[in-house]
Amino acid sequence: MKDTYGREITYLRLSVTELCNLRCRYCMPEDGVVKKRHEDMLTHEEMVLAVRAAASLGITKLRITGGEPLVKPGIVSLCHAFSRIEGIRELCLTTNGTLLPRLAAPLREAGVDRLNISLDTLDAEKYRRITRRGELSQALNGIEAALREGFEKVKINAVLIGGFNDDEIPALAELTRQYPVDVRFIELMPMYDSGDFGPEAFIPYTVVTERLPELEPVKADGGVAKLYRLPGAQGNIGLISPVSAHFCAECNRIRITADGKIKPCLHSSEEISIKGMGLEEMEQTIRRAILEKPQWHGQLSYSERSHANRNMNQIGG
Ligand code: 5AD
Ligand code: SF4
Repeated sequence: MKDTYGREITYLRLSVTELCNLRCRYCMPEDGVVKKRHEDMLTHEEMVLAVRAAASLGITKLRITGGEPLVKPGIVSLCHAFSRIEGIRELCLTTNGTLLPRLAAPLREAGVDRLNISLDTLDAEKYRRITRRGELSQALNGIEAALREGFEKVKINAVLIGGFNDDEIPALAELTRQYPVDVRFIELMPMYDSGDFGPEAFIPYTVVTERLPELEPVKADGGVAKLYRLPGAQGNIGLISPVSAHFCAECNRIRITADGKIKPCLHSSEEISIKGMGLEEMEQTIRRAILEKPQWHGQLSYSERSHANRNMNQIGG
């Protein structure tokens, strides 16, 4: 369905858990999350109902997010259930990749079409530092597992962080020559409590085109990334600019958090609960949330932070 600004809403991002096996500095606090009460989180059944309700309103693309969705018990059978919902044409999942060596094959069998894998650095020591505990080799093994299982259009997401990985832009981009993957650079968003980054960390996407003058523009594919390609590469370079050039006018998405709150906009504090509802009531509530989707999220910068009132692991990106 269309929202009040004429945007066709076709894309739902569903966070299935706030928990994660890593602790990326821009995403969640060191000591993990205050674990919410189990009874406050959506059950598997409610998640399936929510997707059915959304599909009946015209959602065709579903992305599963977290936290880290692969730490969610029963994630494979959940994905299987989502993939069979009428109207859902594309089932995607965003992961840090570390559990893919075990789960890539069953997820593929369960009907997951596409994977986005987060990877901010190719340096093992820096990977440990940014994730506060991760092993780079596990993430790299995860990417290879995804490719081996035949996932198409695998995307690697790197959050651009000034002073941390801007020196690795060429090396990360080189992955598109090495593997049949897209690499996307995403501007760091100033969330509620996104780590102890100073103003220098928030760099615009244009640093990528400055560092890589050989990039050739490619026609956009309907997504929010500006697309480029390195000569001889197998995949594209995508630049995603939520901060320096917002794409609210083309926004086609809504979000549902693991505790059952619809977020009509990522950066707004508005949340509408669907916890405990049946199918029909969920459908009415999602319809109302779409109609309350704001026109844009307001300015974001180091000093003008997101109004989301949640860290990213509690929203799903
Ligand atoms: N800014 C930009 N991207 C973020 N992510 C998490 N927190 C932020 C932030 N503050 C990204 C992760 C992952 C996806 C789920 O969201 O790196 O790719
Ligand atoms: Fe976990 Fe992803 Fe957040 Fe990192 S960015 S802590 S991998 S949910």
